[in-house]
Amino acid sequence: MTIDSAPENELEADLAGTTTGREWWRTAVIYQVYPRSFADGNGDGMGDLVGITRRLPALRELGVDAVWFSPFFTSPQNDAGYDVADYCDIDPLFGTLDDFDRMIAEAHDLGLRVIVDLVPNHSSTAHRWFQEALAAPAGSPERARYMFRDGKGADGSLPPNNWQSVFGGSAWTRITEPDGTPGQWYLHLFDASQPDFDWNNPWVREQFRGVLRFWLDRGVDGFRVDVAHGMIKAEGLPDYTPPEGSGSMGGAGGVDDIGLEPEISVEEDEPTPPYWAQEGVHDIFRDWHEVLAAYDGDRVLCAEAWVDPLSKLADWVRPDEMHQAFNFAYLETPWSAPALRRVITDSLDAFTGVGAPSTWVLSNHDVIRHASRLAMQNHVQGHGLGPKSTNKPDPALGLRRARAATTLMLALPGSAYVYQGEELGLPEVVDLPDEARQDPTWFRTNGERYGRDGCRVPIPWEADAPAYGFNDTGASWLPQPAEWATFARDAQIGVPGSTLELYRLLLEQRRELDLGSGSLQWLEGYGEDVIAFRNGAITVLANVGDVPVELPGGGDVLLASEPLDGSTLPADTTAWLRS
Ligand code: GLC
Repeated sequence: MTIDSAPENELEADLAGTTTGREWWRTAVIYQVYPRSFADGNGDGMGDLVGITRRLPALRELGVDAVWFSPFFTSPQNDAGYDVADYCDIDPLFGTLDDFDRMIAEAHDLGLRVIVDLVPNHSSTAHRWFQEALAAPAGSPERARYMFRDGKGADGSLPPNNWQSVFGGSAWTRITEPDGTPGQWYLHLFDASQPDFDWNNPWVREQFRGVLRFWLDRGVDGFRVDVAHGMIKAEGLPDYTPPEGSGSMGGAGGVDDIGLEPEISVEEDEPTPPYWAQEGVHDIFRDWHEVLAAYDGDRVLCAEAWVDPLSKLADWVRPDEMHQAFNFAYLETPWSAPALRRVITDSLDAFTGVGAPSTWVLSNHDVIRHASRLAMQNHVQGHGLGPKSTNKPDPALGLRRARAATTLMLALPGSAYVYQGEELGLPEVVDLPDEARQDPTWFRTNGERYGRDGCRVPIPWEADAPAYGFNDTGASWLPQPAEWATFARDAQIGVPGSTLELYRLLLEQRRELDLGSGSLQWLEGYGEDVIAFRNGAITVLANVGDVPVELPGGGDVLLASEPLDGSTLPADTTAWLRS
């Protein structure tokens, strides 16, 4: 965008120069578009950039500030685009660079910032850099781009260490050398088609500076950084056995045993796994921070970092590192008032301590949608839900809790992330047929884990249109449930009390009342199961228990996640009152 006259909107004003302390991302509500499933312009059943561009006005109407796009780069799609074969081009499935340019121009015209996904921990095996490494001999500069090692044992037939892939099985694959002999092994923390880069290699760092600049030059406002916690591995790649009862990558077990999104154990009594959260990542973040700072306006780096405790995660967003990190501790918190109070307090303490905003998030493309998850017990994230699951949630309870949880989340100071379809109240799709599933988790565990397809189904726009308006042919890369007409956007818009109207009201009032830059004061006296706090002009009460509670006398209700019953706040309901 060229600025040749007085800025017309806030976004143009920000692009004209940085606004230290008031940067847009400190308070922004950022909407995640999963390109495969948002809108399909050419009718082939796979979402694309033309489809997204047409639907962007709906996001403006919803009232979000920015859009984060999951990957649309050239990719064999073994992990839905998180296996990148060219970081500087668009996969033909999604369109062309011209389509991207039109999409970002339209977003900026609508006042929406654009964040793209950067996938730096690994590329696809189809990437030219990896293909060149395969063709080059052991010990060559090409091999040094990735983590190639000789195998153990007399003939090198054993993997270099005992690390397990997040998606199941060994984290090492042996190659065949160009002369046909069994050769070295390469590391892949995820799928075998996703080889890890060696981030100690300056060549790798230089390539990625180039990738950042490529997209910054095209006008992006920032990057969500995939697996930001995995880029540096401990010296010597020591064997590591996760503690008893933990997830395959050293998780803490139970709800936190999430397989795909490993809980990083950094408690004093548990060693940090040698592949996560190593100190060396901070140099990379500082380097990228400088790359972004050389550009106009306020650009943002947001880390996908499954790191705990929050006090450790805060190191990732020190003033010269990332700007934001996803608050997965919040996402993982069960529907329990004491647990929520604690995670909110810890988040605000940790992030405020380093001058960063806290972020808040309830759903994304890797986890069970919160309209289902919040009504589940004993779920294991990453394992998903399917026809044979024994812990299927009650949809009505799930939706009620999801609305209450979002009404709570959007009252918190800081920046919040919303995943496409949650504004429609979409649940996880539980009954996808086995043959439709595409998540590598499903294949690598021989169907033992359903994986993440249930939260990735194309979203419904129009109740009576083919594929509910996802396209005009009716094709859909994952089948949409028969009962989704009621969730369609056009069935909810203008309908008082619909989930879509609730989100619109929440976002409008959040902006109007400037809640994102507010501060939180806890209030006492509402009982153990009620979360009660003041943020600026409002008092927020979330009844997380199962009995109704009296609202304070004279409480002037601004909005509520459910209709209120006289002066009581029903179970699983959140209200904002004028203080
Ligand atoms: C991140 C992505 C996930 C992907 C993985 C490997 O966790 O969010 O979808 O499978 O990284 O890139």
